[in-house]
Amino acid sequence: MKPLDSPTVTRRLALAVCGFLAALAGWSLLPGGGAISGTEAEAASCRLKPAATNCALKWAGSRSGIAIGASISEGIPEQQQADILAHFNAVSDENAFKWSSMESSEGNIDFSDTDALVDWANANGLRLRAHTLFWHRYQTPSWVTSQINTADDPAETLRELMDRRVEQVVGRYRGRVKIYDVVNEPLQTFGPGWDTTDSFVSRSNFFYLALGEGYIDHAFRATRAADPKAKLFLNETVWNPTIGDPKADAFLALVKRLKRRGVPVDGVGLQTHGMFGLAPPNFPESTRSFRRYIDALGKLGVKVEITELDVALPLIGDVADPLAEQARVYRRVVDACAFARQCVGVTTWNIRDTDTWLDTFPFTSGSAPNLPLLLDGEGNPKPAYQAVKQSLLRRCNQRWALNRKRPARSCSVPWPR
Ligand code: XIL
Repeated sequence: MKPLDSPTVTRRLALAVCGFLAALAGWSLLPGGGAISGTEAEAASCRLKPAATNCALKWAGSRSGIAIGASISEGIPEQQQADILAHFNAVSDENAFKWSSMESSEGNIDFSDTDALVDWANANGLRLRAHTLFWHRYQTPSWVTSQINTADDPAETLRELMDRRVEQVVGRYRGRVKIYDVVNEPLQTFGPGWDTTDSFVSRSNFFYLALGEGYIDHAFRATRAADPKAKLFLNETVWNPTIGDPKADAFLALVKRLKRRGVPVDGVGLQTHGMFGLAPPNFPESTRSFRRYIDALGKLGVKVEITELDVALPLIGDVADPLAEQARVYRRVVDACAFARQCVGVTTWNIRDTDTWLDTFPFTSGSAPNLPLLLDGEGNPKPAYQAVKQSLLRRCNQRWALNRKRPARSCSVPWPR
């Protein structure tokens, strides 16, 4: 082994001392309430183990170039604002951009929640993803479907309604919202096809019934025209994100067709909900198979993000330390993203365990409390929080770096710039 010259030793020693001091500073900033206030010293401490355990998640995010976010409820409650600012560098709306939230009756558009969110996110330098413009399954107002059902030309009526919504929303926030989930959950909940009839898990896909798969093309082209610089995502639930799973394959094939047709899809979101009773028990199968799936999407020329991550504790089953096992599941998911070059973001769905949508959603409320998130009800980081941080930090780590030998220069560059 090459002997270390003394300047190198001095430099390493200095780094270690800085890291240690930064860790101490970070530690002292960790009150029980979980309000970790970030400092540059904390960011620096994120480089080194074991100091890494004391820095806020957002610093690991910026070190890795992976945006780390959470969804915030309508009206951006103060507690949630504080949590996001302490721990995350990105945010999604939980409901505020959905059609039924913005325009419950035709023409009465209420921008108050979305305006407040966009202003707050931009004022605080948070990367915002607007979720979502078009979603057949839930949260499209009934006036939309009744107009289509009674129209002489449903296809034309639908195209007009879609264009109007894009103009009103994307036009209003042009330049201020950088990422849109343009279309949400186009495929069946559990199968590889389309929702052609109503079922107990979904309303029929009225977009698809009127316009075929081309509804996705139309939505993306209209959004691109309304804000040419915004990054446009197709978001989907893929319960078992591995090649060979019928739904995962169908989604991959759909993205391939869209790209072949030149539809302006910049990225795809994989929701990655680990919901008790809905996700497979060994969710996700493995880091390797998930990473391969992300790579396969990436090869089609799209960025990939994990957009709605949560891991319900009852999913974990009867083990000695469920929180440690939950942390391992989180780690398998975030490792897959960290090791896949085209994966650029991870967002959890909600912030604290007490905020989770799973406790009120009909299919998962029975297993409440689901305790699926990174922060407990008091806002304290859980083992899963530390696990996610370690995963993020591995992206640019010498041993794990994307190009194996040396960390790629671009490994810590956030997307979009
Ligand atoms: C959920 C919200 O969290 C709930 O508040 C709302 O009542 C229903 O929708 N997939 C998605 C999200 O794409 O929009 C859903 O959000 C969760 C599942």
